[in-house]
Amino acid sequence: MKNDMTTSNHQKLLAWVEEIKSLCQPSSVHWCDGSQQEYDALCDLMVRNGTFTKLNENLRPGCYLARSHPSDVARVEDRTYICSRNQEDAGPTNNWADPDAMKQKLTGLFRGCMQGRTLYVIPFAMGPLESPLCKIGIELTDSPYVVANMRIMTRMGRQVLDKLGTDGQFIACLHSIGAPLQPGQKDVPWPCEPDVSRKHIVHFPEDFSIWSYGSGYGGNALLGKKCLALRIASMVARKEGWLAEHMLVLCLTSPAGKKYYVAAAFPSACGKTNLAMMQPSLPGWTLRCLGDDIAWIRVGKDGRLYAMNPETGFFGVAPGTSVKSNPNAVRSIAQNTIFTNVVLTPEGDVWWEEMGTPPPARGIDWQGQEWTPECGRKGAHPNSRFTAPAAQCPVIDPDWQNPDGVPLSAILFGGRRPSTIPLVYEAFHWEHGVFLGSATGSETTAAAIHAAGVLRRDPFAMLPFCGYHMGDYLGHWLSFARRTDRAKLPKVFFVNWFRKSADGRWLWPGFGENSRVLKWICERIEGTGKAVQTPIGLLPTPDAIDTSGLKISQADLDELLKVDIEGWTQEALDVSENYKKFGDRLPAALENELRDLKDRLVAAATPK
Ligand code: GTP
Ligand code: SPV
Ligand code: MN
Repeated sequence: MKNDMTTSNHQKLLAWVEEIKSLCQPSSVHWCDGSQQEYDALCDLMVRNGTFTKLNENLRPGCYLARSHPSDVARVEDRTYICSRNQEDAGPTNNWADPDAMKQKLTGLFRGCMQGRTLYVIPFAMGPLESPLCKIGIELTDSPYVVANMRIMTRMGRQVLDKLGTDGQFIACLHSIGAPLQPGQKDVPWPCEPDVSRKHIVHFPEDFSIWSYGSGYGGNALLGKKCLALRIASMVARKEGWLAEHMLVLCLTSPAGKKYYVAAAFPSACGKTNLAMMQPSLPGWTLRCLGDDIAWIRVGKDGRLYAMNPETGFFGVAPGTSVKSNPNAVRSIAQNTIFTNVVLTPEGDVWWEEMGTPPPARGIDWQGQEWTPECGRKGAHPNSRFTAPAAQCPVIDPDWQNPDGVPLSAILFGGRRPSTIPLVYEAFHWEHGVFLGSATGSETTAAAIHAAGVLRRDPFAMLPFCGYHMGDYLGHWLSFARRTDRAKLPKVFFVNWFRKSADGRWLWPGFGENSRVLKWICERIEGTGKAVQTPIGLLPTPDAIDTSGLKISQADLDELLKVDIEGWTQEALDVSENYKKFGDRLPAALENELRDLKDRLVAAATPK
């Protein structure tokens, strides 16, 4: 396979490719056309060089397994930078470096870094090409694994170059695994820069460019996703008056046939993919999926907020995915899927923890070692993933590629909170809703390389993804009450599927049963759902959640819907602590919301 000729006459693009070619010194250049033929040829190449194992064609047609280097298994937040001219503009939640100094450092790292490898030119679009929000990126990479994944996750290929024409704007995304091959040197299955201190995921707000070095994994390397569609897009969105968010988008249809579009922001590995394509347990309700990770949201002509998924695939967490928990994901990954860091079975299929099928008596684990269920190690890495085309999802919504997006009735926030946070509650009004988003916290997960299970504040689930000062970001969210008629704004809710009992058991069954919570949310939108006013927001009355056909004890339900005043007093203090970081860029409206919450908690704790 060879395609060293471009169909592009875009002088700026051609000049940039030439510049990177002479910096990185690849042995060849390949312009990606995005065709099936090209994809198949790349997969064959990766099977030959050991990156891919072809899975059993009868069991998983068109599927491949990749195993990463053990140092390269998740996003590296410590190595991720926003290089704005002024440090202040990156804010307290981002790593910052001077843009000139960083460019110099990166130029040193990239010099000669593609020797012995092919430089792939990936033209891709985030969002339908005809959407007013569509953004074009060009990723230059030396990783065929990245090319194959980008073809699933984005609209990639010749049509993008056509749209770009001779002078269209594009976001320059430079990526290298950072592993040059010397003549005669034998390649490894997953080449990368194993020294974490040399990995860099860098964003330059001045020219909206991205430089990523040293990692081939997920959000570090598929630059359309977190780097472009969240960090860069959030900066563009702020300028242009829209929102780029870490949110799923779904459509729920009630038994009466009414549609409700809902977006939800949960931190990484906290349940977006699962909720996005959930099978409702409540009879008569149907759910359709529009997106599982990213939403671009703008005010539509009618004044409502419209959400659009800029991606075309799912890069989903494998462990825990089972017929019981997420049947629609299981069907989405039945073919044409790339699996990374899961177990290979002797039959040539894949397996992971809590897949709902018995483990193979022996297999090959994510590190390529012999594995048995008794060996004491996990077979799949906790952040092992599948890359699958969204079009394969059996419940994909007919409007998922609608260039205008869909009008939102509700926005949900949530996180992994074993205590304190109730199953669901509703914000009093927009500013209170923005406060709830700003106070989002979660136990950390394996989606990034850091200690897992530690509570951290993750405002709007955007802590690792907001490209500018978080205080300004919160102000931008507040501004939507002025950009449109506030009555047209979605209602805001907070949910928590992850409450645990004192003995460590899940209090709420989760997954398809979350439809019971969504039903109450729809009833609130209709004005029929019953709620009580509490210091933290509007909670369902004890009988308001439909538990018909569900085995749950009254004690567990009471616990799930209890407002723990003591716990919440601590919670408010922790939010205060986090707010201090934002200094004078913390919007006054949020300071007021926090003060009002504290006052309501004090009143509730004081005997009358
Ligand atoms: P990213 O792709 O990292 O942004 O993650 P995500 O938010 O899409 O998370 P995902 O849906 O993949 O869920 C991550 C893990 O949480 C999986 O292991 C799920 O099985 C588990 N999970 C999801 N929903 C629920 C739920 O309702 N209850 C419980 N107990 N676990 C859940
Ligand atoms: C996340 O971490 O939120 C993900 C996975 O969606 S990654 O693309 O690797 O960032
Ligand atoms: Mn995500």
